[in-house]
Amino acid sequence: MPRSFLSQNDLSPTEVRRVFALTHTLKQSKLVPALQGQSLVMFFEKASTRTRLSFEIGMTQLGGHAVYLDRESSQLSRGESVPDTARVVSRYADIMMARVNEHATVQALADAASIPVINGLSDEEHPCQSMADLFTMLEHKGRVEGLTVAYVGDGNNNVTHSLMLGVTQLGGYMRVAAPPSLQPAERYVEVARANAAQWGGSVEVMTDPVRAVSGADVVYTDVWVSMGRETGREDRLLTLEPYRVDEKLVRHAADDYIFMHCLPAHIGEEVTGDVAYGPHSVIFDEAENRLHVQKALMAYLLGVSERVMR
Ligand code: CP
Ligand code: NVA
Repeated sequence: MPRSFLSQNDLSPTEVRRVFALTHTLKQSKLVPALQGQSLVMFFEKASTRTRLSFEIGMTQLGGHAVYLDRESSQLSRGESVPDTARVVSRYADIMMARVNEHATVQALADAASIPVINGLSDEEHPCQSMADLFTMLEHKGRVEGLTVAYVGDGNNNVTHSLMLGVTQLGGYMRVAAPPSLQPAERYVEVARANAAQWGGSVEVMTDPVRAVSGADVVYTDVWVSMGRETGREDRLLTLEPYRVDEKLVRHAADDYIFMHCLPAHIGEEVTGDVAYGPHSVIFDEAENRLHVQKALMAYLLGVSERVMR
C-alpha cells in the first residue's frame, strides 16, 4: 500500500519534522532534480490559486511534470468511477493530489490507487495548508512547542481541523473561538486531544474570541464561507460578525504575535485590512511556504531522503 497523506495525522510528529528538514534543504535552492522524470496528477473539483500553482511549479522545480485534471473535462463527468480513475492514473503517474468536495472522494482515490495520494483540500481537512502553517511558525517563532495558537472564526472547517491536529502534534497550545453552531467537529477535537495528551500540548474550544486571543503568539483566521458552504451565506455572516479579527481584537495578543491566514482572504469580513497587511502579518510567507513544504512532502512520500538531495 503506498503512503498517502489525507489527514495531518497521517504523518507522525517525527515524520513532520523530517519533511520540514527536507523543506529547509529545498528552500535553499530552487532547482533540485529529486523527482526527475516523475509525474504528478492534480485533480480538482473546486477552485484554487495557491494549491494548483504551488504543486505544478513545485513539480517543475523538482525536475518532474504535473498534469491538471478536473471532473468536467475528464470521463468522471460521463460516469467513470472514482476508483477506476485512481487505477488508471496510477498506471501513468507517480503521485496524485486531489482537491475534492467530499473527503470520501479523496479516501476512495487513495484506497484504489497504487501511488501516493495527497489531500489538496476536502470538506474535512486541508493538511497541505497545516504543514505550510507549522513550517511558517517555525520560521517566525523558532518552535511550535509551547506556542499559543488562536484560531478565530468558522471553526467547523477544513483549515481549523488540520491546524488543530498539527499544532497539537508538535506540542503547541491550540485555542479555537467560534460560535456554538460553527465549532470544530467533535471527532477532530478528540484526535487533537489525543495528540496533546501524547505530545504535551493542549486544545481548547470556546466561544469568546478575546479569551482565545489573550496572550496568543499566533492569531489565525479563515474565510467565513468556505467553498461549497454558500447555502445560508447571509446567516453565517451575521453569526460570525463578532469574530472578525481586527485591531481591537489583536490588542489582546502577545506583543510579538504573528497573524496568519490560509488565503484567499475576504478583507472586511473575517479580517480587517490593517491586520491582514499590518506589521504582524506573515500571510504571504505562509503562501510561499506551500510551495516549499509540498515539494518536500512529495519527495518524502516518494521515498527521496534528505541524503539524496544534498
Ligand atoms: N490556501 C489555499 O489552499 O489556497 P487555494 O484555494 O488558492 O489553493
Ligand atoms: N476553508 C476554505 C479554505 C480555502 C483554502 C475553503 O474550504 O474554502
